[in-house]
Amino acid sequence: MLAVKVPKRDAEKTRRKLIELGVLAKGYSPKREGDFVLFPVIEPVEGFELVEAEFERTEMRPHSYREVVEVPEELRPLLPSSFDIIGDIAIIELPEELMKHGKAIGEAILKVHRHIKAVFAKGSKVSGEYRVRELIHLAGERRTETLHRENRIRLKLDVAKVYFSPRLATERMRVFEKTLPGEIVFDMFAGVGPYSILLAKKAKLVFACDINPWAIRYLEENIRLNKAFNVVPILGDVRKIAGKIEADRVIMNLPKFADRFLREAMLSVKSGGIVHYYGFGPEEDLFSEHERKIKDAARELGFEVEFLDERRVRPYAPRQFNIAIYFRVLK
Ligand SMILES: C[S@@+](CC[C@H](N)C(=O)[O-])C[C@H]1O[C@@H](n2cnc3c(N)ncnc32)[C@H](O)[C@@H]1O
Repeated sequence: MLAVKVPKRDAEKTRRKLIELGVLAKGYSPKREGDFVLFPVIEPVEGFELVEAEFERTEMRPHSYREVVEVPEELRPLLPSSFDIIGDIAIIELPEELMKHGKAIGEAILKVHRHIKAVFAKGSKVSGEYRVRELIHLAGERRTETLHRENRIRLKLDVAKVYFSPRLATERMRVFEKTLPGEIVFDMFAGVGPYSILLAKKAKLVFACDINPWAIRYLEENIRLNKAFNVVPILGDVRKIAGKIEADRVIMNLPKFADRFLREAMLSVKSGGIVHYYGFGPEEDLFSEHERKIKDAARELGFEVEFLDERRVRPYAPRQFNIAIYFRVLK
């Protein structure tokens, strides 16, 4: 095929130029010939020495597991286009029809994403007090413990024993950006610490509570891993400690039931302090129901609230969204 021949010292500059001109032939490796390098091109290029040469094809790596997985053709449209990656573990949601092809799907994911070592399918919805789900092993290692990196912190966790969603990383960063140096933060439903450990970089002190002993075990390990020694882990029901803490900022990341804990949150925040409330809402009216509950809880305590920000965090179910409401409590 047609090639551009340049001295070795000009190779990198030439490669960039050929890419810029859109003439570098894709799928082939450049070739060394003594003190020269040959680049395959799709058409003659002015200003360069042109020669004929043969090139080896480079391995074209697939981008998606869907390009390599073997499933019956009629089921292909059902293959999910995305899945969660927590550390080196992939968790995919498969429709019933694809479950019997789970092994092939898991192996295709391992083949395309070399850093993934284990693949699981969601076996249930997130449920119970600990907000965990059943997982079905599809391929790779039968291991559920991993080390996840997000927002420049490291989190060790067991995906089968604790709640963790990598999809909240951006929301956590938003809360981090709002946090002011020296604040006292109360993370009411802390899990393994993705908010607490991040916010600890700015806050003076972070009280991090969770009722799941596994979450607190990992939180303690994550405090050591990240040297976040200003995080105070508290194992137990948050109802028992609410009101004993006076925080500048309260995080209520329990969207399914946060409304049941509004009284506790409001009693734990200083006058003028901020609450980050999460819930689920239908697309047609995301916030009204939650706003009403927040106002009712404040009224019962004789407090006032000022709404600061309301947003969709992520899609949750068809026409349902995980929402965030940030509000100030005035006592
Ligand atoms: C949705 S998860 C959020 C975890 C963490 N904030 C995160 O972003 O990964 C909610 C957490 O609240 C904890 N939880 C539920 N009820 C609780 C209660 N009454 N007191 C303390 N923690 C509770 C669960 O064990 C779970 O870890």
